[in-house]
Amino acid sequence: MTNYKAEILLGDSREVLKRFPDGYFNLIVTSPPYADARKKHYDSIRPDNFSEFMLSFHDELWRVLADDGSFVLNIKDKVVNGVRHRYVWHTIETFSKKGWNCIDDYLWIKPNAMPGYWNTRLRDEWEYCFHMTKEKKFAMYQDAVRKPLGNWAEKRLANLTGKSTKRHNSENNSGFGRDLRNWKNKKMVLPGNTISVALVGKNMGHPAAFPVGLPEFFIRLFTKIGDNVLDPFAGSGSTGVAAKMLGRNVVLIDTKREYVKVMVERLRRARYLKKVSDLQVSITDLLICEAV
Ligand SMILES: C[S@@+](CC[C@H](N)C(=O)[O-])C[C@H]1O[C@@H](n2cnc3c(N)ncnc32)[C@H](O)[C@@H]1O
Repeated sequence: MTNYKAEILLGDSREVLKRFPDGYFNLIVTSPPYADARKKHYDSIRPDNFSEFMLSFHDELWRVLADDGSFVLNIKDKVVNGVRHRYVWHTIETFSKKGWNCIDDYLWIKPNAMPGYWNTRLRDEWEYCFHMTKEKKFAMYQDAVRKPLGNWAEKRLANLTGKSTKRHNSENNSGFGRDLRNWKNKKMVLPGNTISVALVGKNMGHPAAFPVGLPEFFIRLFTKIGDNVLDPFAGSGSTGVAAKMLGRNVVLIDTKREYVKVMVERLRRARYLKKVSDLQVSITDLLICEAV
């Protein structure tokens, strides 16, 4: 029986991370505080200062990530004076200049996004999840996120005609190609780079919790059982719940004592959410330290 460890740490992650050795984490998956929002709940950062704020975490995040590890950053952008502010793009550019490889932009689609009417735009129903790495060669376990092909496929694949009946090679002779016939008789296929997960209700004890299904997707894709996962802006601990379900060790950091309490409660309950058959989670492996 294996026990996987969850550490919940109270403090500023720029400081708290100093206690971890170089290359300790296989995956960092997180969503930082929103720009200029929710002032009532925690310190917010003005959109113009956002990339500078995120940059102040760069050195420690880079140091504690394994060379073949991944960093997934979920950030919501914001409309300022009627125009979508580009602080999210600036942040990623700033990180890229520091040496991060921006491997892909995943989109989190929210099928239950709030209804509403705006006369210049439609309802907001997705957020970025940027995938960055230190090296171009990194750990990735695509089979772990396969999903059912879906009902549409049987009909579509039964009636292939014209171009669809043969391999379609890339026009620029890159050697890449697609062949719809490869999907015939397949039940489980690799997903695309969008993740559709419903928003959670307001009962997590945190105003900006993301659904457990979001970190779960990236934990499956970029780690294996027993690996170490970090959420440096952990909030209500959704990343912790996903990590525990999947049998990964997890470190969760937040500056707010009230959220640390919420995390502890959630992780206590999460011991019942077993998804991996040999996963044994006990309350004693929940370590609560005060870093400040
Ligand atoms: C968007 S929330 C994260 C929500 C989380 N993903 C969840 O599912 O509950 C961002 C969190 O970062 C925390 N935070 C802000 N500055 C921090 C810092 N310097 N170190 C650690 N946590 C910080 C805030 O207290 C807040 O809970």
